[in-house]
Amino acid sequence: MDSYSGVSAKHFLSLLDLSPAELRQLIARATELKGLQHRGEIHEPLKNRTLGMIFEKASTRTRVSFEAGMTQLGGHALFLSSRDTQLGRGEPIEDSARVLSRMVDCIMIRTFEHAGLELFAKHSRVPVINALTDLLHPCQLLADMQTYFEHRGDIAGGRVVWIGDGNNMCHSYINAARQFDFSLNIACPEGYEPDTGILGAAGDRCKVIPDPMAAAEGADLVVTDVWASMGQEGEQAERERIFAGYQVNDALMARADKDALFMHCLPAHRGEEVSASVIDGVRSVVWDEAENRMHAQKALLEFLLTG
Ligand code: CP
Ligand code: NVA
Repeated sequence: MDSYSGVSAKHFLSLLDLSPAELRQLIARATELKGLQHRGEIHEPLKNRTLGMIFEKASTRTRVSFEAGMTQLGGHALFLSSRDTQLGRGEPIEDSARVLSRMVDCIMIRTFEHAGLELFAKHSRVPVINALTDLLHPCQLLADMQTYFEHRGDIAGGRVVWIGDGNNMCHSYINAARQFDFSLNIACPEGYEPDTGILGAAGDRCKVIPDPMAAAEGADLVVTDVWASMGQEGEQAERERIFAGYQVNDALMARADKDALFMHCLPAHRGEEVSASVIDGVRSVVWDEAENRMHAQKALLEFLLTG
């Protein structure tokens, strides 16, 4: 908490910041808000409110879903690239948090180090949302869970398989397994496993099974992500070689349950982590998943700003 503020805001830096009941309520609300928007019904609880959006990495979905979402909720969103704010010229994170949070009502941050996000939140008077760090991507999981619930009902007791890098998305899937009560098999090459602390905290429900075919056996949901995340562009060629056996393709999907869904946070690289036949095939729900970013984040903004 910032010493100037005298108030402690509720933040969303990780899925673990909300209770399982709050997360489920938020997913249900996201589907309600989706219905309102699809029917053209106006719902503007955030009139005159501003969301500051700090981007230190590229984005298509996150930027547009937050910005369009704020417009639909009656508010305004402000795009703040580190390239043209003082943050990019070395203004301390603490000072930026103190100043911005005296002007806007909520702040969304996409950055590299998770510790930087936590430092910002500590000095912010207003709610801070994690819009992706090197460690976690919780907003994506809200959309993924909403998408699963809409297609298949409750995921509790379900079997999910993560294929690929033990990265920020994988870490958020581990946290989701805890909060939404599903089991998660993680298939990744040696040396690319998820963080041991995050994995260990999830207990028996999350297992690393290096063989992707074995890991996918009977899965209800198959998920993957790029082999080289933002900031790892220099490792692309090496990772293509190391991850070559970790593609989600028809052979892998055949090991999953016959009704298994396929998800990917996007952007995707067809021919690398996923074949075109899978991502463009009948089990793929990636376009619903992308759309749900907006509905889920609207529910999150409403929750954080109106209670
Ligand atoms: N999935 C996701 O966060 O996409 P963007 O990088 O385009 O925001
Ligand atoms: N793991 C990816 C997710 C992109 C939405 C990255 O961090 O680049």
